[in-house]
Amino acid sequence: MPVLLHIDSSPFAESSVSREVSAAFRAAWQAQHPDGTVIHRDLAAEPLPHLDAAGISAAFVPADQRSPEQAAALALREQLFTELEQADAVVIGAPMYNFTIPSSLKAWLDHVILMGRTAGDAPSAAGTPVTVVSSRGGSYGPGTPRESFEFVTTYLEKVLTGMLGLDVDFIVPEFTLASVNPALAEFVETAKASKAKALQDAEQKAKALAV
Ligand SMILES: Cc1cc2nc3c(=O)[nH]c(=O)nc-3n(C[C@H](O)[C@H](O)[C@H](O)COP(=O)(O)O)c2cc1C
Repeated sequence: MPVLLHIDSSPFAESSVSREVSAAFRAAWQAQHPDGTVIHRDLAAEPLPHLDAAGISAAFVPADQRSPEQAAALALREQLFTELEQADAVVIGAPMYNFTIPSSLKAWLDHVILMGRTAGDAPSAAGTPVTVVSSRGGSYGPGTPRESFEFVTTYLEKVLTGMLGLDVDFIVPEFTLASVNPALAEFVETAKASKAKALQDAEQKAKALAV
């Protein structure tokens, strides 16, 4: 039975563009896979703890020598490894916060990346397609004044490909704050077009996975 791992990290529900686009991806994927299962990990509604000493050390201690804290921390990590490994496809909502990803998503990455398991010479989920929806209030595309401030796609491309071995693709709705930020008023129509394209891309990319 095919599995989609659907991760959201925007703390907003109704107004979130990344959630709207990741939901469109999910709906298109489900239409292609009526027998499929979706694992929805909502990192805003149910934040993961920061990876701490127990969670880091547990993987290097034999099971019968782990403290209760280490055992609990590793059980959580194991759940996250398994969710990723079970997935035939992944969609991640990753809004830009202060030029990079929300800390809730970074916490997921810190838990789920383990050398010798999900990362290293033979990453356990290698080759899994992952579509990242990176909404942002402004624009950081090639030639824009803030191009060099973009640490969402640049970072995620490196970590998802270089560490987890996933097959990464991005959808980037831009200027999401154009309608509320007077400084971006001239980009209101650009924002609408960017969101419409993002929704269309989400549907197309999800459908393409079925082929
Ligand atoms: C804490 C915070 C930091 C943000 N930092 C940036 C930023 O650095 N650059 C940017 O273009 N937009 C920034 N934004 C705007 C968001 O990227 C934008 O609202 C985006 O649509 C959020 O995704 P969402 O609609 O899925 O919640 C920030 C928003 C918040 C709340």
